[in-house]
Amino acid sequence: MPPGLLLLCLLQLLLLGLGDHGLRRDAAADSFHLPVSAPVVPDSAEERRLHYRALEAKDLLRHRRMTRQVPELMSNTSMFELPMRSAVNIAHVGMYIVVVRIGTPALPYSLVLDTANDLTWINCRLRRRKGKHPGRPHVKKQPPTTTTMAIDDAGEPVKVLKNWYRPALSDSWRRYRCSQKLCMHFPHNTCQGNNQTTSCTYFQEMQDGTTTSGIYGQEKASVLFPNGTMAKLPGLVLGCSTFEAGGAVDSHDGVLSLGNSPIAFGVTAAKRFGGRFSFCLLATASDRNTSSYLTFGSNPAVERPGTLETPLIYNVELAVAYGPHITAVLVGGVPLDIPPEVWDYRIAHGGVVLDTGTSITGLVPAAYDAVTAALDRHLAHLERVTDVLGFDYCYNWNFTGDGVDPAHNVTIPSFAIEMDGGARLEPDAKSIVMPDVVPGVACLAFRRLAQGPAIIGNVLMQEHIWEIDHVKEMLRFRKDNCLDHQQNKNATSPSPPATHNAA
Ligand SMILES: *[C@@H]1O[C@H](CO)[C@@H](O)[C@H](O)[C@H]1NC(C)=O
Ligand SMILES: *[C@@H]1O[C@H](CO)[C@@H](O)[C@H](O)[C@H]1NC(C)=O
Ligand SMILES: *[C@@H]1O[C@H](CO)[C@@H](O)[C@H](O)[C@H]1NC(C)=O
Ligand SMILES: *[C@@H]1O[C@H](CO)[C@@H](O)[C@H](O)[C@H]1NC(C)=O
Ligand SMILES: *[C@@H]1O[C@H](CO)[C@@H](O)[C@H](O)[C@H]1NC(C)=O
Ligand SMILES: *[C@@H]1O[C@H](CO)[C@@H](O)[C@H](O)[C@H]1NC(C)=O
Ligand SMILES: *[C@@H]1O[C@H](CO)[C@@H](O)[C@H](O)[C@H]1NC(C)=O
Repeated sequence: MPPGLLLLCLLQLLLLGLGDHGLRRDAAADSFHLPVSAPVVPDSAEERRLHYRALEAKDLLRHRRMTRQVPELMSNTSMFELPMRSAVNIAHVGMYIVVVRIGTPALPYSLVLDTANDLTWINCRLRRRKGKHPGRPHVKKQPPTTTTMAIDDAGEPVKVLKNWYRPALSDSWRRYRCSQKLCMHFPHNTCQGNNQTTSCTYFQEMQDGTTTSGIYGQEKASVLFPNGTMAKLPGLVLGCSTFEAGGAVDSHDGVLSLGNSPIAFGVTAAKRFGGRFSFCLLATASDRNTSSYLTFGSNPAVERPGTLETPLIYNVELAVAYGPHITAVLVGGVPLDIPPEVWDYRIAHGGVVLDTGTSITGLVPAAYDAVTAALDRHLAHLERVTDVLGFDYCYNWNFTGDGVDPAHNVTIPSFAIEMDGGARLEPDAKSIVMPDVVPGVACLAFRRLAQGPAIIGNVLMQEHIWEIDHVKEMLRFRKDNCLDHQQNKNATSPSPPATHNAA
């Protein structure tokens, strides 16, 4: 069965099981949006080194989780080499954060925007009755935000605000039980048998190599329509993660899943809005005050002329992930000599997925060697820097804005990824060669993957608007700095990203 069909069948099942309360399908609600903020790169030289190390470790561990690779296939780097006292946290570095209001009453949570994940989860605090499974006992009202202490770079404790989700305090939370038919279809589920009383539990390995586990429940999100009204979006499958990563200084509260799975937020939330969603990725290190949107339903910014489209390919091996079918990679307008099998999703470890949770684009050797050789030709006269962890090709060069630097005889060539139907992704120079990975050092923004599928990461995707259309099975995109389509001036973000370092 093709993944699309399977998805539809499961969706039907889910619709039957969940029921549609609250938001009626004929409510003519045509779209809603959620604020998204960009990853921030620190300014200081030392923090930058740490940042990019963390970013590499995050990407590698994420790749291992996605492809279930054994550790030997990875480079020697791992999160354990990171100074853990640092406030640089591996799990969120390089991630786009979306703010979603969840529960009743609705509280804001900052979640990682993740197109290759099927599990939406939030850090969660359960109340247990003595020796019993977690239920919904009456508890005293407690503030949803707690302050925990963490240690910053200088060894000084800093206050970190963390938004815990507390199911017992949300009137719209309904836990799933192992005996429920839906629970059996949920990914990562760890139920033993179909006990009527035990909660539907899950266990998933996280980006930072640790694991998250918790219980599944049904919840509602509160969303804002373009006319400024709020409405409840029911029927979301939410993981209440009770595993608390020890001492982590998370700047986010969980993950928002936009993968291809009937329980992913990107599918459940989109089903009332034409089965599609779009997001605009601001440039990395954008002003902390700027945000763009994750939009469910029709988005005028996508419908403008100049939007390109290509069939959306659901990856066979990584069932939750999807991407385009690449037909060519061009450097300076010249197609590179890359065997087409590399991009063929029907061949084992072939194809390519779009992953907003990975930063640096990863290519299998046949593609990586061709791409890096073609780009290096334009930079090879510069002094190479070899001690930047995670990057093979780095140059002692102060990258100027558009990649053109006559004084140093450098012009970064045009770069294009051509897809089925002729759509071309033409990222800016700074998505191909990352400026200032270390001050004064620029590096090619590609990583060699021992095993495919290839992964298009958020550095390559930045400054574009992307639309995933599960109904027409199309991927649409357009170059966009994401600054000029705040659809509702009234609808500013419900709150700034919900947690702050209150140092
Ligand atoms: C706002 O839009 C929603 C969805 O389109 C609609 O249900 C609601 O009635 C509208 N509210 C106002 C005040 O126009
Ligand atoms: C990994 O470490 C081993 C020994 O510690 C070394 O021989 C090898 O070259 C390293 N590999 C990489 C990719 O750094
Ligand atoms: C179901 O789980 C509860 C609590 O874990 C246990 O007491 C009970 O014996 C279990 N029932 C069955 C039929 O396994
Ligand atoms: C962000 O916005 C606030 C108020 O709008 C302003 O006071 C602050 O200076 C801005 N910060 C930056 C970094 O622009
Ligand atoms: C500039 O670089 C190109 C290769 O990118 C090389 O062919 C050319 O000779 C260089 N010119 C100077 C003046 O160094
Ligand atoms: C880059 O710029 C910095 C500061 O402007 C300067 O100190 C450094 O020498 C420059 N590096 C190169 C390779 O030109
Ligand atoms: C903006 O919000 C205010 C109050 O929340 C409301 O009165 C006004 O009509 C809204 N304007 C628009 C354009 O939606």
